[in-house]
Amino acid sequence: MRSETAVPVKLSEYTPTPYAIKTVDLDFNLAPDNTIVVARSAIEPREGTSAGTPLVLNGDELTFVSASVNGEALGEEAYAIGETTFTLKTPPAEPFTLEITTKLSPQANTKLMGLYRSSGNYCTQCEAEGFRRITYFYDRPDVLAVYTTRIEANKLDCPVLLGNGNPVESGDVEGTDNHYAVWHDPHPKPAYLFALVAGNLGSISEKYTTASGKPVDLNIYVEHGNEDRADWAMDSLIRSMRWDEKVFGREYDLDVFNIVAVSDFNMGAMENKGLNIFNDKYILADPDTATDADYEGIETVVAHEYFHNWTGNRITCRDWFQLCLKEGLTVFRDHEFSSDERSRPVKRIADVRVLKSHQFPEDAGPLAHPVRPDVYKEISNFYTATVYEKGSELVSMIKTILGEDGFRKGMDLYFDRHDGDAATIEDFIKSFEDATGEDLSQFALWYSQSGTPELTVATHYDDAAQTFTMEVSQKTRPTPNQDSKKPFVIPVRFGLVGSDGSDLAYAKVEGAEVRGNVLLIKEDAQTIVFHGVSEKPVASLLREFSAPVTLKSDVTLDEQLFLMGSDSDPFNRWQAAQTVATHMLIQMSEGSEPEGTSRFIAAIGKIAEDDALDMAFRALCLQLPTEGDIARELGSNVDPEAIYKARRTLRQKIAETLFDRFQSLYARVEPAKPFSPDAASAGARALRNSLLGYLAASGKADGAQIARDHFESADNMSDRIAALNCLVHERIDGYQQALVAFCDRHQKTPLAIDKWFVVQATDTSSDTLERVKELTNHPAFSWSNPNRVRSLVGAFVAGNQRCFNAADGSGYNYLSEITLKIDRANPQLAARMLNAFRSWRALEPTRRALAEEALRKISAAEQPLSPDVSDITERCLQ
Ligand code: TRP
Ligand code: ZN
Repeated sequence: MRSETAVPVKLSEYTPTPYAIKTVDLDFNLAPDNTIVVARSAIEPREGTSAGTPLVLNGDELTFVSASVNGEALGEEAYAIGETTFTLKTPPAEPFTLEITTKLSPQANTKLMGLYRSSGNYCTQCEAEGFRRITYFYDRPDVLAVYTTRIEANKLDCPVLLGNGNPVESGDVEGTDNHYAVWHDPHPKPAYLFALVAGNLGSISEKYTTASGKPVDLNIYVEHGNEDRADWAMDSLIRSMRWDEKVFGREYDLDVFNIVAVSDFNMGAMENKGLNIFNDKYILADPDTATDADYEGIETVVAHEYFHNWTGNRITCRDWFQLCLKEGLTVFRDHEFSSDERSRPVKRIADVRVLKSHQFPEDAGPLAHPVRPDVYKEISNFYTATVYEKGSELVSMIKTILGEDGFRKGMDLYFDRHDGDAATIEDFIKSFEDATGEDLSQFALWYSQSGTPELTVATHYDDAAQTFTMEVSQKTRPTPNQDSKKPFVIPVRFGLVGSDGSDLAYAKVEGAEVRGNVLLIKEDAQTIVFHGVSEKPVASLLREFSAPVTLKSDVTLDEQLFLMGSDSDPFNRWQAAQTVATHMLIQMSEGSEPEGTSRFIAAIGKIAEDDALDMAFRALCLQLPTEGDIARELGSNVDPEAIYKARRTLRQKIAETLFDRFQSLYARVEPAKPFSPDAASAGARALRNSLLGYLAASGKADGAQIARDHFESADNMSDRIAALNCLVHERIDGYQQALVAFCDRHQKTPLAIDKWFVVQATDTSSDTLERVKELTNHPAFSWSNPNRVRSLVGAFVAGNQRCFNAADGSGYNYLSEITLKIDRANPQLAARMLNAFRSWRALEPTRRALAEEALRKISAAEQPLSPDVSDITERCLQ
C-alpha cells in the first residue's frame, strides 16, 4: 500500500482540548478558485491548562494566508503550519482573539467535503471532518462555539446567501458587484454543524407556529424550475415538527428553518443548525418522476434531519465514537414518526428488511464493529448500518424493556440534563436508569460488543402437567478484535399461540422475567417454564422483531405455515413466510427438492387475496427472500449462481401455479385516482406491482402483454418503473423500445434517469457488466456525481448478486478498477462502493480467491490510496 498507514484513534485516549473556543466570526468572500475565509475566534485556556501550552488546530488541504493574535500579525516564529495542523506555539495565558485567513478553491473540491460547488452553487458539508477544509480549527464535536457568519458574493451569481441561525443583516457592498449577508446562530455548536449556501436558487415557503406560539419561517431552496417538486418535502417537514412536539415534547428554536437541495452530495442529507442541506433525491418529487418509495424516503429523511435539531444539535456527541448517540437515536425517532404516519407493521417489516440486508452481513463479516466503536482510522467509514440501524434497534429495545412511560421519562431527563452538552452513551443510559430505577449495565453490552447474537429455542409441551418449556440459549460468534462475548439482555416479545390462532393464557412463568408479553433473556442458557398452558401452543417469538438477533427454533414447517396464516402479530406472519421460503430456497440451491412447496404457495395465494389485510402488507408477503437473505442464512461456502437459480425457479413456480388468481386480483386492485402518495394508495400500487412481477415472470403471453400495457398506461413513476423492470429483466418483447421511451421521456430529469441506470445494472443477463461499462459513457452519466455512480455502478456491485459474483471474477475486478478511479476524486464515495466486498469471506472457494485477488490489487496499486479506501481494504483483508 502506497499510502501511509493512518494512526488509529482510540476511545480510551479521549482528552478534552486545552483551550475552549467561545465565539467564531467567519467572513467568506466567495469566488470559484479564490475564496478567502477570515476566521476570528475568541479562545481561552480551559481550567488546568498550563500557561503557554501550544494551541494545535486541524487543517486539511488549506492554503494559509496569515494569522494574528489580539490584532497583531504573527511573525513566522510564532506559529507552525503542518500538513494537517496549525500550531500557535505560545498562546497568551488570558482569553485572546485568534484571526486566521485561509484561501480555498471550491471549484476544485471534488471530495464534496468542506466548501464545494454543485451545479454552480456554493455549499458545504462539514460532518464529520470537513470544517478543517475551510479554516484551521478544533474540528471535533466537543468544542462548542457561537457562530456569526458573513457571506459576500457576486449579486448576479449568488442572489441567495444562507448561513446557520437567524439572518441579522444584508446589503450591497459599495463599489463592487457584490452583496453580503450576516447570519447569527445563538446556539453553541460544534464545527461539524456549520453550513453555508450561496447561489442562484428558487424556493418555496411556509409559516409555522410552534406549540408555544413561536412563529417560524420555513423555506426550501432548489435549483430553478424544481420549485413545484418540493411540496411533499415541505409537507413532511411540517408534519415532523408537529410530531416532535406531540411525541417528544420538543419544539423548534430559531426564527427560520432552511432546507437546500443540492445535486452533488455524498450522503442523504445533513442536519446543519437551521440550514439542512439535502441530496436532492430526498427533496424533489412529483408523480411522474418519483416512486412511492421516493416519497417515503423524502418523508423519512426530512424528518430525520429535522429531529437531529434536538438529538444531535442541542445535545451533540462528545467524540465520534458516540456517533450512535445522535444517529441511532434519530433513526429510531424517524422510524417512530413514519410508523405513526403510516402503517406500523408495514414500516416495521420494511425497517427489519433493511437491518437484515445491510447490518446483519456487516456484523457477520470483516467490517463488523460495535454500535459504539472503540477505535477507528477513518471516521467517514463509520457512518454504517451498524451505527445507524442497529443503533436504532438498541433504543427500541430500551423502550421495549422500560415500557412507553419509562422510555418517555428517560428521554425527558436526557433532554433536561444534557441540553447544550456534548454527551456520551453513558450519559444517555444513565438518564434511563435514573428516571426509572432500572439497572441497564448488562444492556450496555449491546453498545460495546459486536456481532449478531444467535438465539436458539427448543420447546416441549407436557400434556399432563400443562407446562410449556423453552430451553433458550444465546451465542455470538467471534468478530474482529472480540473473541468471546458476555451474554446480552434480549427482550423477546412473544405469544403462545393456540389452535384457534389466539394467544393462550398461562398461570405463571419460571426461569425468566416476563414484562407484559416480553421475556427478558439474560443468560447464556436458561430454561423457562410456563405453567397452566391448556393446550400445546406454537411459540411465536420475537414479535415485532423485538431484538436484533437471529432465531433458530424448533417450530416445524406446519407450525410456520400456521403462524403465517394466523399469528396475531403481522410482523411474525411475514417472518414465518420468510422463514419457510428461505428454508426451501436453501434446499433448492443445494440441489434437493424441498418439502412443503405447494402448501407454501397456497398460503402465499391466500394472503395475497385476503382483503382484510393491508395491501402494502400483502405486497411484502409476496416478496421472496432476496439472494442476499439466502446467502446470509447460509453464512459460508456461498454460491451466488446456485442461489439465483433457486430463487428464480421458486418464483416461476409461484407465478405458474397462481397465474389465474393473480391475474384476476391484479385486475381488481385499482389504486385511487388521481395519484396520491398516501400510504393506502402506495400500498395498492405495491400489491399490484408485486402481482405484475409474477405475471411477467410466468413466461405466459398474457403476462407479457399485461406488462407492456402496464408500462404504456402508467401515469406515475412507481407503475412505470415496475413495468420497465419486468420488461427488461424478463426480456419481454418490446423491452428495448421501452428503455428508449423511458430515457426520452425523462432525459431532463437526472433522478429519473438514475432509475433507468438501476434497471439495467440489476439485469441478471451475462452481458450486464459490458452494458454498465457502456453506460458510463452515456451523456447522462457522470463519475463526479454520487447519485449517478450509486445508481449505475453501485446498483451493479451491491444489487446484482449474480453478475457481480460472476465466476470469472470480472465483477470483482471491475469493483477494484472503479474504486481506484473514484478514489482519486472522492474517497468517501470510493470507500462506499468497496463495501460490496464486505461478505467476500463467506463465498465458495473459487470466488473467494478471486475476490481476495481483487482486494489485493487495490492494496498493491501504484496510486496513493485515500485513508478511506485503505482502511476498508485493510480491514477486509485482515
Ligand atoms: N449526519 C448525517 C445524517 O443525518 C450524515 C451525513 C451527511 C454525513 N453527510 C455526510 C456523514 C458526509 C459523513 C459524511 O445522517
Ligand atoms: Zn443522521
